[in-house]
Amino acid sequence: MSHEAANTTHDPDAWRDRFPILESSTYLVNHSLGAMPRAVFGKLQGFAEQWATRGVRSWAEGWWDAPTQIGNLVGRIMNAPENTVVMHQNVSIVQSIVASALDFSTKRNKVVYTELNFPTCMYVWEGMRKHGARIHEVKSDDGATVPTERMLEAIDEETLIVPISHVLYKSSYQQDAAAICARAKEVGALVLLDCYQSLGTVPIDVQALGVDMICGGSVKWLCGGPGAAYLYTRPGLLESLEPGITGWMAHADPFAFETGEQRYAQGSWRMLHGSPAVASLLAATAGHETILEVGTDAIRDYSIRMTEGLRANLSERGFAIPSPEDPARRGGTLTVALADDENGPAFVKALEARDILVDHRPGSGIRVSPHFYTRESELDEFAEAMSELRESGAWKDFIASTAVY
Ligand SMILES: Cc1ncc(COP(=O)(O)O)c(C=O)c1O
Repeated sequence: MSHEAANTTHDPDAWRDRFPILESSTYLVNHSLGAMPRAVFGKLQGFAEQWATRGVRSWAEGWWDAPTQIGNLVGRIMNAPENTVVMHQNVSIVQSIVASALDFSTKRNKVVYTELNFPTCMYVWEGMRKHGARIHEVKSDDGATVPTERMLEAIDEETLIVPISHVLYKSSYQQDAAAICARAKEVGALVLLDCYQSLGTVPIDVQALGVDMICGGSVKWLCGGPGAAYLYTRPGLLESLEPGITGWMAHADPFAFETGEQRYAQGSWRMLHGSPAVASLLAATAGHETILEVGTDAIRDYSIRMTEGLRANLSERGFAIPSPEDPARRGGTLTVALADDENGPAFVKALEARDILVDHRPGSGIRVSPHFYTRESELDEFAEAMSELRESGAWKDFIASTAVY
C-alpha cells in the first residue's frame, strides 16, 4: 500500500468489533496494554480443549514447538527469516539470556545504553558487573531525548553490546536505530534493540536494519497480552551464541535426557530455556495475526495522522507536549505535560472515571496513544476532558488515588 493510500483509507471502524473493551472505554493506553482481541477467547478455549482431550499428546501436537512456531509468526511482523525468533515470558528473561552468552572478561566489556532505557533492562546489565561488565550510560539533556551523536561517540572498540530501547517508554522518542547499528557494526559491537515500544506501531525490518538482535513483548502494540516476549537473533550470530542461562529446550537432543554439560541445539532453539508457557503464547497469536492483517505501514500512517491531529489540538488548548515534535522521531505515543507533574496520577484517575484510559510516568506527563482501532473523535474527547479537568480542577477529587498501571 502506498503511503498516501494508507493515509486516507485506513478505517478504524473496520476493526473495532474485534476488541470488546472499545464498547465501554476510550482506550488510549496502547503503549501499556493493547486492547484484547475477541479472538483470544477462542485461542484459550482451543488450548483448554486440547489439554482436556489430547492430554500429554499435546506436547507433540504444538505445545513443544510453540516458542519457535509463534516466533515465526512474530518474525513475519519484522521481516525476520524463518527460525530466527523465539518466544519467552518477558524481556527481562530475554535480555538475561543474551547477557549470559557474552564474555565480559576481555577489554571489550563495555555495555552502552541511555539513561532513559527501560529500568528492567538496566537491572539485567547492572547485574553483569559482577562478571566484568562496564556500564556506560549515555546522558540526556532534557529527560526525553538522547542525541544520536552522543550515542555514536560512546560506541567504540571496547563496546561489547548496545542494549537499547528503539522507542523510549517515557517520551516516545525514537532512537536512530539505523545509525546506531551502523556504528556498532563498524567497531564490532553487538546491538540488542528493545522494540517493545515500536513493533506493532512502527514498521521494523530486521534484515534491512542489519540489527544483531531485537526483543520486546506482545503486551502493548501487538495486542497479545502478557507472557509472550520475542527474541530475534541474526543468522550468522545465532550459531556462535552459547547462553549460560539455558535449559533443556536449548539442548540438541532434549529427549535423550543427557546429563552433564549443555550441548546446544542448532538455530534459534539454542536461545530457549525450559518448558514454555503455552497458554500465554497461544493467546498472544490473536494479536500477532491481527497486526499482520492490518499491516504495520498502514498502522504507522494512521498513527502519525492521529498523533499529529491530537498534538495540534492539545497545543491549541495550551498544553505542552514533551514528546518529539517530528513524527519520524516518535513512536506511537504523545506525552502531555501538566503544570505540576505530581498531579499526573490524579488526572489519570479522573480520566478513568470518565472511561478514558491513559497513564502517567513521572517526569514525562500523561502518556496517550491511539492505535489502528482508535477513532479521531476519541482523541478529541480526551483533549476536551483534559481542558475541562484543568479548568474545573475536578482532578483534585482524585488526589488520594494511586494509579498502578
Ligand atoms: C521498552 C520496554 N522494555 C521492557 C519492558 C518490560 O519488560 P518485561 O517484559 O521484562 O516486563 C517495557 C514495559 O513497559 C518497555 O516499555
